[in-house]
Amino acid sequence: MPISLPIHSNIRDYEVTFDETPDFVNDLAAHPEAFYIVDENVWKIYAQTLFSNYQKDEIMILPIAEDRKNLETVQEIYNRLVERPEKRNLTLITFGGGILQDITGFAVSTIYRGIKWIYIPTTLLAQADSCVGSKTSLNYKKYKNLLGTFYPPTRIHIFPGFLSTLSETDFRSGFGEVIKLHLMGGMNSYRELQQLVPDILKRDPKALLTAIQQSLHIKLGYMAGDEFDTGRRNLLNYGHDFGHALESTSDFAIPHGQAVIFGMLAANLVATRRGLIAQQVEQEISESLLLPHLIVRPSSKAVDASAIIGAMKKDKKRLGNNLALVMMTSDFKFVLTNDLMPAEVTSVLDILMKRIDV
Ligand SMILES: NC(=O)c1ccc[n+]([C@@H]2O[C@H](COP(=O)([O-])OP(=O)(O)OC[C@H]3O[C@@H](n4cnc5c(N)ncnc54)[C@H](O)[C@@H]3O)[C@@H](O)[C@H]2O)c1
Ligand SMILES: [Zn+2]
Repeated sequence: MPISLPIHSNIRDYEVTFDETPDFVNDLAAHPEAFYIVDENVWKIYAQTLFSNYQKDEIMILPIAEDRKNLETVQEIYNRLVERPEKRNLTLITFGGGILQDITGFAVSTIYRGIKWIYIPTTLLAQADSCVGSKTSLNYKKYKNLLGTFYPPTRIHIFPGFLSTLSETDFRSGFGEVIKLHLMGGMNSYRELQQLVPDILKRDPKALLTAIQQSLHIKLGYMAGDEFDTGRRNLLNYGHDFGHALESTSDFAIPHGQAVIFGMLAANLVATRRGLIAQQVEQEISESLLLPHLIVRPSSKAVDASAIIGAMKKDKKRLGNNLALVMMTSDFKFVLTNDLMPAEVTSVLDILMKRIDV
């Protein structure tokens, strides 16, 4: 029997099941009043096996890229869905990573003012982080995640076996979010993750399941009482202030979770300079957990200070004229400041570029 995790949401309670086998994929083929959307890369790998009982005319195969996370792709989905005989009774069942989740979540939450949605995350990032949290997002022009809704899936199935076919870059991108959440879980979860790293990198399903469950548990802890992101949930933006800026200045050449690792390194350097983290704690975290997993190095153009500052100014979470930053302290507490100075950004980027050899 799969383990089940019930999740409370102010929109609708839902459940995550952790599946040891992919049998549920075959079972979902018989789901009544369903239509399916599958990430093209997932389809290519599993079409003849897991999806062999699926009807071709009930499936939309979606090519995935960050620059397809937009309204045009959502319209392609609406065009397919309006042709279906089912209307508000339709269940959309979607398979893919965080990009497919964001696109299909936006579509299900808006068509007919919301339909049922079963989501099967197939990347580490989506299994360990994005699948819970109710957020759907689209990029608009060059603004990342500018459009969006709050809308959880009705049910989520997590099968860590999917992660065996992920590219190393996408795997390490997801691992960036796993690191972030384990740091946010406190000293113990940071140490536990360090123990698991060798097995995680071998993609051992048991180690992955432990890290995924712990990541979701920590994320849900920060969301409790703040599903709509007005207070404590904002702290989950740790690593994302610099991270989102780097995604944008690199034209999305740096995958999301890798940009988050860069963002944590930068935020920790600011925190050290402000006396929030002791230098040896900052160094230990950087050397043991952050730098070794930053495998996609940004170009010097992408880490140009004025470009990063310009991108940080466009962040939708910014209040007033100053820059926002979530920082970690030595005792693994997290604080949000709205007074990050451009001069601080310039000097920490300088240090960081030397450390990562840009
Ligand atoms: N909604 C949220 O709360 C939330 C949270 C964090 C991140 N995000 C968003 O998630 C996106 C990143 O998601 P991601 O890292 O999952 O990237 P992704 O969806 O682009 O997937 C990465 C790559 O892996 C491929 N892929 C997917 N599953 C696979 C499998 N099992 N085997 C082989 N290849 C597979 C995809 O086709 C893609 O090429 C970003 O756009 C980010 O903004 C959203
Ligand atoms: Zn993220």
